[in-house]
Amino acid sequence: MALKLFGFSKHVIFSFIKITILLILNFMIKKADSGCNNSVITSITPIQHCEILTSLQSQSFDGHLSLQDNEYAAKDFGNIHHFPPLAVLHPKTVSDISRTIKHVFEKGSNSEMKVAARGHGHSLQGQAQAHQGLVIKMESLKGPEMKIQTGEFPYVDVSGGELWINILRETLDYGLAPKSWTDYLHLTVGGTLSNAGISGQAFKHGPQINNVFQLEVVTGKGEVVTCSENQNADLFHSVLGGLGQFGIITRARISLEPAPKMVKWIRVLYSDFSTFTRDQEYLISLKDTFDYIEGFVIINRTGILNSWRLSFDPKDPLQASQFSSDGKTFYCLEMAKYFKPDEAEVMNQGVDQLLSKLSYIQPTLFLSEVSYVEFLDRVHVSEMKLRAKGLWDVHHPWLNLLIPRSEIHDFAKQVFGNILKDTSNGPILIYPVNQTRWNSKTSLVTPEEDVFYLVAFLTSAIPFSSGENSLEYILNQNRRILDFCSHAKLNVKQYLAHYTTQEEWQTHFGSKWGAFVERKRAYDPLALLAPGHRIFQKEGSTSI
Ligand SMILES: Cc1cc2nc3c(=O)[nH]c(=O)nc-3n(C[C@H](O)[C@H](O)[C@H](O)COP(=O)(O)OP(=O)(O)OC[C@H]3O[C@@H](n4cnc5c(N)ncnc54)[C@H](O)[C@@H]3O)c2cc1C
Ligand SMILES: *[C@@H]1O[C@H](CO)[C@@H](O)[C@H](O)[C@H]1NC(C)=O
Ligand SMILES: *[C@@H]1O[C@H](CO)[C@@H](O)[C@H](O)[C@H]1NC(C)=O
Repeated sequence: MALKLFGFSKHVIFSFIKITILLILNFMIKKADSGCNNSVITSITPIQHCEILTSLQSQSFDGHLSLQDNEYAAKDFGNIHHFPPLAVLHPKTVSDISRTIKHVFEKGSNSEMKVAARGHGHSLQGQAQAHQGLVIKMESLKGPEMKIQTGEFPYVDVSGGELWINILRETLDYGLAPKSWTDYLHLTVGGTLSNAGISGQAFKHGPQINNVFQLEVVTGKGEVVTCSENQNADLFHSVLGGLGQFGIITRARISLEPAPKMVKWIRVLYSDFSTFTRDQEYLISLKDTFDYIEGFVIINRTGILNSWRLSFDPKDPLQASQFSSDGKTFYCLEMAKYFKPDEAEVMNQGVDQLLSKLSYIQPTLFLSEVSYVEFLDRVHVSEMKLRAKGLWDVHHPWLNLLIPRSEIHDFAKQVFGNILKDTSNGPILIYPVNQTRWNSKTSLVTPEEDVFYLVAFLTSAIPFSSGENSLEYILNQNRRILDFCSHAKLNVKQYLAHYTTQEEWQTHFGSKWGAFVERKRAYDPLALLAPGHRIFQKEGSTSI
C-alpha cells in the first residue's frame, strides 16, 4: 500500500530520511544568509541549491526559468515515481541550455544540484525527473526549424525536443520519412535516442540510434559539441543509448528514406510457440521480406484493458481479438508491407509468396490496408480510446527484456506457461531482431547473441484496485519473472532498465561498464545529468 501511495521504495525512503536530517541541520545554520525565499524552497532544500537558483534567476534567457507550477515535471507515463524539481527551464535556444548547465557546473563542485532533460515525460520510472533539482523542458526548444535535405542520402535536422509524429508529418511533405520507429510516435527525439528506439523495423534498419548521422550535444560541462561517426565520435557513441548521462541532445540529423503511401497490415495466429518463433526468425532472415515484423502473446484473454494496442483496422473491425482464447495461449505474428497504390498487385504477390511459407493456423489470417501515417500512429488510436475511459493516466509498471534466442524457449515455457495466468493487464510484445548490422559502439546494452528477442510486458494497473489489476500484483509478477531469469541464469538484459544501486547498473552494463564510467568522467564529471536513472549517485562509496 505504501508503495502504491507514495511510489518510494524502501531504499529511497531510507536515503530520504538520511538526507532530510543532514539538510535540516544545514538549513538551520545557513538559512539566514541564503537569500533564498521562494515558496518552492522547503526545509529540506540544500542551501547550495538556493544559491544556484538565485544566481540562475539573475541570468537572462531567451526562454525562461519557472519556479512555480512545476508539478507536471514530477510525473511520467509510468506514474509510479514522483520527485518534484525546484525549477524548470523552458529553453528557447541552445545557449539557454548551455548557459544553465555551465552555471550549475561552475557552482557545482560542492553542490548536489542535478539537471534532467525532460522530453515528452513518457519515461516509466522517474528517469526524466530531478528531485530538488532542475528540469529542462526540451519541447520548449523549438529551433532550429526542421530542415530537410533531399538527394542520395536524405536527412532531416530536428530539435532534440521534437516529437516523432511531427517529424513524420513534415518529412512526408517531401515524400520522405525516417526508417526506424517506436510503436508510439508522441515521444521526443532526445528521449528515444537516449534509450534506443526499438520497433518492428529494427530487424532491418537497426534501432533509431542506428539511423542518426549527427548530433549536437550540450555536455555536463555546458559545452556545445557537434558529433558524428567522423567528428567527436566517442561523444556521439556515448550519447546514443546513453540514458542522458553524457549530454543533452539539442539537435539530431536523422536519416530518411522514400516514404510509402500505404501499408498492408497482417496478423496471423499460432498456438505453438516453436512454430511461431521459427516463422518470425525465418522472416527476419530473408533479404526480401516484410518491412515491419512484431508479434504478441495472448493468454486467456479476458478483462478490461484488452483493447490496448489490439485495435487493428478502424474501418473494418475484423480483428484478431474476435478470436477467443479462453484458457489458452496464442501467439500473434504481426507483419506489414509498405507500398505505393500503383504497385498493389506486385506487393500482393510478394505477400502471398511470403505467407505461403508460414505455418500459422489457416483461418486466422487477418489482412488490412491503411495509410502509412495510420499505421505508424496506430497506438495513438488506442490512447484516445483509453483516455476516454480514464485508463491512460494509470500506473504503468512496464517490464522490457532482451532475451537471447537460445534462451527464449525456456523463458516462454516458464513465463507464459506458468507465471502469467492471462494477459488482461496489457499486451506482451515479442519479436526477434538480428543485431549483426547494429552499431555496437553505442552505449546500448544488448545480449551477446546475434539474434535476440524483445519481450515487452506493457501492463497497466487500475488505481486503487486490489487483486490482479493492482500495481502490487503486477510489480510482484515482474519480480517473479526477473527472479526466474536470474535463477535460470538467463543472459537477459533489461531495456528501459531501472535500478536503485550502482552494483545493479554495473551488472547491467557488464563489460561495457568501464567505458561507461570513463565516458561519464569525460563528459559529465560532476554527474549533474539525468539523475533519475540512479547510476551515479553522490552518496555511498561507489560514486565517482
Ligand atoms: C506508449 C509508449 C510506447 C512506447 N513504445 C516504444 C517502442 O516501441 N520502442 C521503444 O524503444 N520505446 C518505446 N517507448 C519508450 C520510450 O522510448 C521511452 O519511454 C522514452 O524515454 C520516452 O521519450 P520521452 O521523449 O517522453 O523521454 P523522457 O521520458 O522525457 O526522457 C527519457 C530519458 O531521456 C532523457 N532525455 C530526454 N530528452 C533528452 C535529450 N534531448 N537529450 C538527452 N537526454 C534526454 C531524460 O532525462 C530521461 O532520462 C514507449 C513509451 C510509451 C509511453
Ligand atoms: C481464464 O480466465 C477466466 C476468467 O478470468 C478464469 O475463470 C479461468 O480460470 C482462466 N483459465 C485458465 C486456464 O487460467
Ligand atoms: C544474422 O545476420 C547475419 C548477417 O546478415 C547472418 O550471417 C546470420 O546468419 C544471422 N543470424 C541468424 C541466427 O539468423
